[in-house]
Amino acid sequence: MIAGNRTINYLRISVTDRCNFRCRYCIPSSPFSVMAHDKIAKYEDILRITNLACELGITKVRITGGEPFVRNGIFSFLEKLCAIESLKDISITTNGALLTSKKIKKLIALGIKRLNFSLDTLDPARFAQITGRDKFQQVWDAIFAAHELGISPVKINAVILRHLNYDEIEDIAALTLKYPFHIRFIEYMPMGDSAVESQQQVLTEEIKEKIESRFDKLIPVKRTANDGPAKKFQIAGAKGIVGFITPISSHFCSECNRLRLTSRGTLRPCLLNNYEKDILNPLRNGASDNELKEIILSALTKKPSFHGLTDKSVKDIPISHMTSIGG
Ligand code: 5AD
Ligand code: SF4
Repeated sequence: MIAGNRTINYLRISVTDRCNFRCRYCIPSSPFSVMAHDKIAKYEDILRITNLACELGITKVRITGGEPFVRNGIFSFLEKLCAIESLKDISITTNGALLTSKKIKKLIALGIKRLNFSLDTLDPARFAQITGRDKFQQVWDAIFAAHELGISPVKINAVILRHLNYDEIEDIAALTLKYPFHIRFIEYMPMGDSAVESQQQVLTEEIKEKIESRFDKLIPVKRTANDGPAKKFQIAGAKGIVGFITPISSHFCSECNRLRLTSRGTLRPCLLNNYEKDILNPLRNGASDNELKEIILSALTKKPSFHGLTDKSVKDIPISHMTSIGG
């Protein structure tokens, strides 16, 4: 599938808008409700849409939420997803809290080799403050179980915020000295009304400088196929990688190869633009495979060439919060 001059081969599927965490940068600070179960796409609907998207050229899928592992039946869904021949690469973004060794072994048996965790602090009390849940140990254990069981790479996303975990930047980056993890610092994106104040946002340049103030200059690392938008570096002698995801300071829209399917069954060509195209209702109302493919292709024609977070002239400021879209 082509959108402008970009080949779209990556589908990001949010299987639920529910999450067992309440991360300050993600969850709205005002009361919010989750979608009623009957409004959420059934697994069979997601599989049909994914199959059609694969016929149109999707070869990679990432499963996200909310938190994917809070949804019942996720393992049998993943099994069916992994059976789609043309899918070369299936990965999952998770907060890790529900991932035991046993479950990680199951994922590996299904052929899932890559996992992205979220971890913003190495301090259990702070972890509870950031995520609203006292689950540091569970997440830490899941990350190391994944590593020991051969998940490769283990990616760890960290969002840095002033007055919260700013003083841990170097320590988090230092994990890569001992372990082959890919630590990815993601710039905070103001989505909807999170409890984060705009002055807390820390951009990549500052994070990088802080890392370089403790270690030597970061060494750029060559890009590989699964990098996505991360700019990769290494601390000299490190086993792992330090990456930066820069939606704010330098947007990567021109390289974006993704389409998103939200848990409520809409196609979203861009995370940071509120345009969405409903595909679930046409599917439930009996649309044919060809009609559904037309819907997928028409959603892609709406893929913007850049997003509105950094451009004040764009009025369509994102209001959806992350759990409802799937990160
Ligand atoms: N800005 C930047 N990153 C965010 N995430 C969630 N909300 C935000 C936000 N507002 C990150 C989480 C998770 C990933 C899927 O998205 O840290 O790792
Ligand atoms: Fe935190 Fe991810 Fe859940 Fe959002 S979806 S609250 S970032 S764990």
